Amino acid sequence: MCRFSAVQAAASDTSGGHATASEVRSDDSQNLALILETMCGIVGYVGPRPSQDILIAGLARLEYRGYDSAGIAVIDGNGDLGMRKKAGKLSMLRDSLADAPLGDGTTGIGHTRWATHGGPTDVNAHPHLADDDKLAVIHNGIIENFSALREELLASGVEFRSETDTEVAAALLGREYAKSGNLQDAFQNVVNRLEGAFTLLAMHEDHPGLVVGARRNSPLVIGLGEGENFLGSDVAAFVEHTRKALAIGQDQIVSITPSEVTVTDFSGSPVEAEPFDVSWDAAAAEKGGWSSFMAKEVAEQPQAVANTILGRVHDGQVVIPELDGLDELFIGINRVIITACGTASYAALVGKYAIEQWARVATDVELAHEFRYRDPVIGDDTLVISISQSGETMDTLMAVKYARERGARTLSICNTQGATIPRESDAVVYTHAGPEVAVASTKAFSAQITALLLLGLHMGRVRQTLTDDSAVAELADLPDKIASVLEKENDHVAQLAGWMADTRSVLFLGRHVGYPIALEGALKLKEISYIHAEGFAAGELKHGPIALIEPGQPVFVIVPSPRHSALIHSKVVSNIQEIRARGARVIVIAEEGDAAVLPFADEVIHIPLAGPMFEPVLAVVPLQIFAMALATAKGLDVDQPRNLAKSVTVE
Ligand code: F6R
Repeated sequence: MCRFSAVQAAASDTSGGHATASEVRSDDSQNLALILETMCGIVGYVGPRPSQDILIAGLARLEYRGYDSAGIAVIDGNGDLGMRKKAGKLSMLRDSLADAPLGDGTTGIGHTRWATHGGPTDVNAHPHLADDDKLAVIHNGIIENFSALREELLASGVEFRSETDTEVAAALLGREYAKSGNLQDAFQNVVNRLEGAFTLLAMHEDHPGLVVGARRNSPLVIGLGEGENFLGSDVAAFVEHTRKALAIGQDQIVSITPSEVTVTDFSGSPVEAEPFDVSWDAAAAEKGGWSSFMAKEVAEQPQAVANTILGRVHDGQVVIPELDGLDELFIGINRVIITACGTASYAALVGKYAIEQWARVATDVELAHEFRYRDPVIGDDTLVISISQSGETMDTLMAVKYARERGARTLSICNTQGATIPRESDAVVYTHAGPEVAVASTKAFSAQITALLLLGLHMGRVRQTLTDDSAVAELADLPDKIASVLEKENDHVAQLAGWMADTRSVLFLGRHVGYPIALEGALKLKEISYIHAEGFAAGELKHGPIALIEPGQPVFVIVPSPRHSALIHSKVVSNIQEIRARGARVIVIAEEGDAAVLPFADEVIHIPLAGPMFEPVLAVVPLQIFAMALATAKGLDVDQPRNLAKSVTVE
């Protein structure tokens, strides 16, 4: 049974030896070869079971966070620390351990890495060792003052094997530990000297059964087992073993032993960690017979959308229980800003249309990384909605913090429990898409749009601006309609992609809520098939992009239903005629029965009849299938595209 107790740790010396920001920057620019660690997956284990397999299984679930290299360290039954690390995907480490296992040690830490600079090599992989290889450290983030710390350590005779900032932290910890022999005290002293963003885990062979960790602007959660405990970058690291978890706040330190979990702040004062139950089960994070996680996640969209709606429609009205007590806020606001990155920002664009239409409040969409670098007009009458699948995207997190500092109210739409962004927001509406492992977001996107539609309908009801309940009634049919697109169009679209495997460029056009889907279709194709792709607002075509059209150029066009607006529909049909006249190969996504597009389309992909705000969730499905099939036809790994990582925890 796990006991939570507070640790009384000595306050540390946090002063001295820091370079100024400008000194660090100039040091950094002289050290371009230095490897900075950024988004990585972290797992820690203490308990009665051999840790090697537990760590490897945890890393397999975290590999979406980075797959440049992987490594583990284990303290074995004799109290000796063993370590193995390999450049490349986790399979390289697995093979090496199969040849020569690290033994049956029951305390261990593991790491999977995504690097921003420099080549991923064995030597730069984690863990990094110190104190005569008795101490192991893993790290996610960037230690911004590492240059100054490195100089300081070099001057005192420390020799470095790698070029990473992590080894600097390990060496610092080794030096501190030598002073007291107390791992927790030494760790606390070290984290207080680090600047930047980091999750750090450490263990020492003098202390089997103890793993210490800390976080600042980088994720870390605790998994609570029976006679064993876990640490992970997210719950996927340990969900196979326990669904009981504790969220750790910013600037907090945790120690786990098999029977105890203690959490303090950076000065050693005890803090209470927030318990939560993980609703995912382990099977949800497994491939379950699918060729890829992406294929599985595309197919899971009906369920993801159904789960996101579940419990939020009562008596023909949308009532989101998590937003109880916020009616006054929704009535009082004059402006909504939705902030997000990448795919989530395209979901936000659909949300803008829905919130403006149903809740009649001016809504803008801001890329999170642009938002906080200007001087936006926000105040206490502004609601800033952030959208993030991972809940850890640093750009989005910083935008939320910035909005709060400026007095705005904040609401997050997030798929990951215990993540940082919802914890930093006034309210959260969870999407219930389940774990999304493939780097390219699919089911999270559909669930994000669904959550935004729910939010728009909820706000419309509260603000008494919603005049028509037909959209609420339609919510229930959405999962089946997605299922029907998957069923009817999968083979057709996959065949189309097969024919286009040599294509060098694809364009995507849309109007109204079809425009964000054009952007998303292009992003999906770029990121997993490495084919040049652009999404445009169809009306923008004549202002420049039409020059790109030459004979044979494939163009996907998302056509809105003529039932919603004959005018918008006719404009899109005109756009199709314009590009067709210039030789484009036109692939149309249109509702069943739309005869007007037939004479001008080379291929028609059908989606079921749906209300205007629901069409995006249907139209995106063929585009996801297309990108996936094209990447597969090119022999690419659709789950782990090059240069990308699932969770972007750096700015
Ligand atoms: C693309 C994709 C990214 C993410 C973006 C934000 O397929 O997945 O563009 O949407 O990095 O990530 P989250 O939603 O985790 O904040």
